[in-house]
Amino acid sequence: MGYKTLQFPKGTQFLVTGGAGFIGSNLCEAILNLGYRVRCLDDLSTGKQANVDMFLGRDGYEFVKGDIKDFNTCIQATAGMDYVLHQAAWGSVPRSIEMPLFYNANNIGGTLNMMEAARQNGVKKFVYASSSSVYGDEPNLPKTEGREGNLLSPYALTKRCTEEWGKQYTRHYGLETVGLRYFNVFGRRQDPNGAYAAVIPKFIKQLMNDEQPTINGDGKQSRDFTYIENVIEANLKACLSSSEAAGQAYNIAYGGREYLIDIYHALTSALGKDIAPKFGPDRKGDIKHSNADISRAERLLGYHPDYDFKTGLAEAIQWYRENL
Ligand SMILES: NC(=O)c1ccc[n+]([C@@H]2O[C@H](COP(=O)([O-])OP(=O)(O)OC[C@H]3O[C@@H](n4cnc5c(N)ncnc54)[C@H](O)[C@@H]3O)[C@@H](O)[C@H]2O)c1
Repeated sequence: MGYKTLQFPKGTQFLVTGGAGFIGSNLCEAILNLGYRVRCLDDLSTGKQANVDMFLGRDGYEFVKGDIKDFNTCIQATAGMDYVLHQAAWGSVPRSIEMPLFYNANNIGGTLNMMEAARQNGVKKFVYASSSSVYGDEPNLPKTEGREGNLLSPYALTKRCTEEWGKQYTRHYGLETVGLRYFNVFGRRQDPNGAYAAVIPKFIKQLMNDEQPTINGDGKQSRDFTYIENVIEANLKACLSSSEAAGQAYNIAYGGREYLIDIYHALTSALGKDIAPKFGPDRKGDIKHSNADISRAERLLGYHPDYDFKTGLAEAIQWYRENL
């Protein structure tokens, strides 16, 4: 269970791309806490300098400011690395609908650069962030690998393409790739600000400031919200997975189902706020329900998430109380 007892050879070197972002900075921290070395590559386009500054000076941490759209940057960053945990990408379904060319260049082109660079530098395992959005309009629940529907956004397209490149790099070029389809991750350091902020940190901040949050749609949509600690476990276990696990993508979630309206009420109650939500229109490109079958990741990656939604939410709220 968990990842805190996982062992890698002494001096193991990880590269975390997108390491100044939410998930990436948590990966950097976990690797440092386990006693291994981590290089963070980030262009700070959506990431934060503060997520770098907090580790500067810690033994084993290195920051490289650079853009994965530049192949030479990727070559230099992957030199000497045992594992790559590739998180760098732009998120947000609505923003991807506004900026198709950028998403293609950044999320697909940048990932292809990273895979090729990792191959040339003999990286042992290339673990990369995919997304539950690859299931598109597939109506059956739980979402199961191999049963995907039509894609609903350019963002989802970038993640599906990334997975296809991952398969090709394992099949033809000997790079062991493992895709992780994250389902609505939340936890410490997730950005509550901006038009594209994720719902949990956004609502926490608004409620803490006595503002009235807006729920898109009727609030009866459901998601498999996944606490950051489970995502760290998945990444590190993917590094240690067998060659048979390579060339595939896995659902990474808790395997639960939370309704947005219930989360809203859990937040108002935990924060002691008596504020009713506003209801807005549905968001373009969104699906109504999503929850994951995680049995493939359990079987092939040995992933057994420790944190259920409630425990994760309590920790997250505590962090925002102390840090906002
Ligand atoms: N947070 C979620 O719920 C979720 C769900 C599914 C998938 N994902 C995926 O997980 C990964 C991490 O997401 P996050 O929530 O931490 O987002 P984030 O925006 O906090 O982090 C992404 C990081 O990547 C960096 N980056 C973007 N483009 C770059 C480039 N060209 N070169 C170098 N760095 C670049 C950004 O500056 C940022 O620090 C992304 O690939 C995202 O698509 C996240």
